[in-house]
Amino acid sequence: MDGNGRWAKRRLLPRVAGHKQGVEALRRCVRLCMERGVGVLTVFAFSSENWQRPADEVSGLMRLMAAALLREVQPLHEAGVAIRFVGDRSGINASLLASMEGAEVQTAGNAKLLLNVCFNYGGRWDVVQAAQRVVDAGQPLSEGTLSAAMATAHAPDPDLLIRTGGERRISNFLLWQCAYSELYFSDCLWPDFDAAELDAALADFAGRERRFGKTSEQVERGMSAA
Ligand code: IPE
Ligand code: MG
Repeated sequence: MDGNGRWAKRRLLPRVAGHKQGVEALRRCVRLCMERGVGVLTVFAFSSENWQRPADEVSGLMRLMAAALLREVQPLHEAGVAIRFVGDRSGINASLLASMEGAEVQTAGNAKLLLNVCFNYGGRWDVVQAAQRVVDAGQPLSEGTLSAAMATAHAPDPDLLIRTGGERRISNFLLWQCAYSELYFSDCLWPDFDAAELDAALADFAGRERRFGKTSEQVERGMSAA
């Protein structure tokens, strides 16, 4: 969800105002995903590296998360959304962490949409914590054991990765999980991400051929056999 700061700057507003608008865009995006039949939505809300931003922006983001949880969890729960936080919980303020875990417990039984919120998350952190857990459990290190220990083990790997804000990079998002994800980059700033933008990304995705290392002919044969 990139581009909040630039959205605000263009309007001569403080960066935090862009993040606030970013929460609105996320609320809209969740509703749209449900309408479109998307089963899992994973968003990158705060990275392990975002702590390095100016202190007032970091505290603004933390306050925004706390406020968003207070306001949004009940309506999301009523809409059938299960919320999960993905990331390193050790660096997070105790009262914020309590509301995050409260939201998870309250919404755990919902099945309409799984909303994974990556918060204090880094793809490299995830690989390392997963490897450590496999080792600590005395298991052999394999793709299967590592996948099962990743912070997103409760969800399938993403089919489509959308990055807004114009940059063409992954920036330490789901490095392991995105091995075969289709990548889609939009110049749209996150607060402006709307139905037209989502539908453009979904239409683009629908036109991709996913081969997972196989040839085009094999994929076509597999489809006609099925
Ligand atoms: C992304 O928007 C949101 C978070 C990192 C929380 P940015 O804050 O990176 O916005 P730009 O890239 O400065 O426009
Ligand atoms: Mg940015």
